[in-house]
Amino acid sequence: MADKQPAEPQAANGLLGRRAFLGQGLAAASLLAAGAASAGTADGSRAAWMSRPGRGMTEASPPSVFAPELGRVGISAAVGTDGAGASRTPLEHLDGLITPSRLHFERHHSGIPAIDPTRHHLLVHGRVERPLLFSLDALHRYPMVSRIQFLECSGNSGHLIAPQPPEGSCGELHGLVSNSEWGGVPLGYLLEEARVKPGASWIIAGGADAAAMARSIPMDKILDDAIVALYQNGEPLRAAQGYPMRLFLPGWEGNASVKWLRSLYVADQPAMTRDETAKYTDVQADGTVHQFTMPMGVKSVITSPSPGKDLGRQGVYQISGLAWSGAGRIRRVEVSADGGRSWADALLDAHALPQSQTRFRCGWRWQGQPGVLVSRATDEQGNVQPTRTEVMKQRAAGAFYHYNAWQAWAVNASGVVRNVYV
Ligand code: CO
Repeated sequence: MADKQPAEPQAANGLLGRRAFLGQGLAAASLLAAGAASAGTADGSRAAWMSRPGRGMTEASPPSVFAPELGRVGISAAVGTDGAGASRTPLEHLDGLITPSRLHFERHHSGIPAIDPTRHHLLVHGRVERPLLFSLDALHRYPMVSRIQFLECSGNSGHLIAPQPPEGSCGELHGLVSNSEWGGVPLGYLLEEARVKPGASWIIAGGADAAAMARSIPMDKILDDAIVALYQNGEPLRAAQGYPMRLFLPGWEGNASVKWLRSLYVADQPAMTRDETAKYTDVQADGTVHQFTMPMGVKSVITSPSPGKDLGRQGVYQISGLAWSGAGRIRRVEVSADGGRSWADALLDAHALPQSQTRFRCGWRWQGQPGVLVSRATDEQGNVQPTRTEVMKQRAAGAFYHYNAWQAWAVNASGVVRNVYV
């Protein structure tokens, strides 16, 4: 039986936490008017959509005319180019843990190639006994696996290094991360057939885009859990996600999961490509540069409320967000309504999957008081999401990769939400 008593806050400033939230009556529904139950409308009149058949079926599945199609946000193009830039997932408009494929973030270095799969092959060569070519048809004959996992650009949230908190929606600030079911062939099977020679410790993965994007990947990761992905959320990869095939490296920075994969060169050292020397490296305050910093750190963000998703009338609100870690499962997410001084545990949806986003929820009684909402995730390795001060202290000015600090949203007395630093 649900607890009928008003829930006791589990942390300061009205934060109810997960248990109180579950048993709480929210009084958000309207009272039933006489006759409304049979008509299906609040005022008892018969709705137009119940008085004649609806439209027929088509192959496409358009959204409701009353719920316009969501789109990506924060689309940015590098100056002087058409196809180099990024687009972001509108995190604040989604719930659950799967990102619809058409809303997956994009980061391209020279646009989206249109690849004819009958003329595209994956070449496995270098330090192997038998160099091999795999067509898309050939790859379909190998055993496949599918797993729900996140992909995050290492530049995600990089705007937050600015001295003053930038304005933007949750998606505009943090939407270079998405979560999908990725299906494909474990790379180990292909390397076994090619017979890797002793001493091979790296693989140089190359893409078929006009930038010929390439990254060096340690062999340990390749043999551990790397796949050649052919499917995303059950359908063939979208063109922007690497059709007909891409590398997928669970939990690692997105740039290394090379799209439009065309070659895997087995080597005994990294290639030092442009995107692992001039870019995607981490410059420290003392001038040293870290390379091949691949796993993404433990991180979380409250998606609702968030800027543009302001509070209305006073009452109990659901705080909802996403947490993820390149090191494994999310073990715990805590939420604060006072800028991180006091915390309550959030409820995690279902069970957390390794290297996957996890949805968390928490109740907050808002009675017009200002508050600062923050979430803090802990993964199964014991890594705790750091404060912004901790993240910023070792890095050189302008270094923006791998930013995983707490995200704070200030709520003012009118319920308006904005980005702040704590
Ligand atoms: Co990195």
